[in-house]
Amino acid sequence: MNAITDLAAAEQPSPASAPILSVNGLRVSYGRIEAVRGVDLAVGAGEFVGIIGSNGAGKTSLLRAVTGVLKPVGGSVRFDGADTTGLKSHAMVARGLAMVPEGRMVFADQSVRDNLVLGAFSRIGQDRAGVEADIARMIGLFPRLGERIDQQAGTLSGGEQQMLAIARGLLSRPKLLVIDELSLGLAPKILDMLFPVLTQLNREGLSILLVEQMASYALAVTHRTYVMENGRVLFDGESKALAGDDRVLDAYLGRRGKH
Ligand SMILES: Nc1ncnc2c1ncn2[C@@H]1O[C@H](COP(=O)(O)OP(=O)(O)OP(=O)(O)O)[C@@H](O)[C@H]1O
Ligand SMILES: [Mg+2]
Repeated sequence: MNAITDLAAAEQPSPASAPILSVNGLRVSYGRIEAVRGVDLAVGAGEFVGIIGSNGAGKTSLLRAVTGVLKPVGGSVRFDGADTTGLKSHAMVARGLAMVPEGRMVFADQSVRDNLVLGAFSRIGQDRAGVEADIARMIGLFPRLGERIDQQAGTLSGGEQQMLAIARGLLSRPKLLVIDELSLGLAPKILDMLFPVLTQLNREGLSILLVEQMASYALAVTHRTYVMENGRVLFDGESKALAGDDRVLDAYLGRRGKH
């Protein structure tokens, strides 16, 4: 039995619901470089959505503008019923949007526990017991973090750092978790463990937007997928259908140049 397809959200219909996130005509520029050139995208409440696309397609730039790390130069972002265009990332976290950034960005010289506590910075003063309960839940989800709770985060393996980055994001109790390149530099064995955790979180009600280089994983675990190229969405659709779509097979699943 295949561990990925066994736990795939793609096996289930996408939950029909009002979007928790809707992005319209979004544009991001770095000086004269137009990284995102008018992107429309939506994530339904409870949905698991993927974005795939080649290097430099604008995936990270899109996520940065959605999560408030940088300001879009055009278009709009609506999150959880409000216009959040241009809001800073701390304000987005407070509204229930957490980001696991490309490269994980854990605080290397701080302990695993302190990294987790930092994920809950907005409520640590008022809700110590709740934060401790959430840390215990994260250890249940990722037992390896429990074994290394007092270790400096910089000493963790790449896979363990990714677990910590996800757990830290969850400590803010998000409604939508945004993840940039879950698989980057990680062995298939670790991925076969991490992806099912995301599926489990999604089944418990968490909405997830995942940027992923490994198209086969993204298409296996998500309900819907957007394909980006050159700052634009080329097409999108149910992940199950896209997994058999010639355009995706040719460009992203290793069939390029074989016919
Ligand atoms: N800080 C920056 N300053 C200038 N240009 C940038 C900056 N960040 C990204 N770019 C450019 O914007 C475009 C989109 O980059 P982005 O990182 O969003 O793509 P990506 O799809 O995430 O790529 P990858 O798969 O390599 O992570 C690229 O042409 C890139 O060179
Ligand atoms: Mg990127």
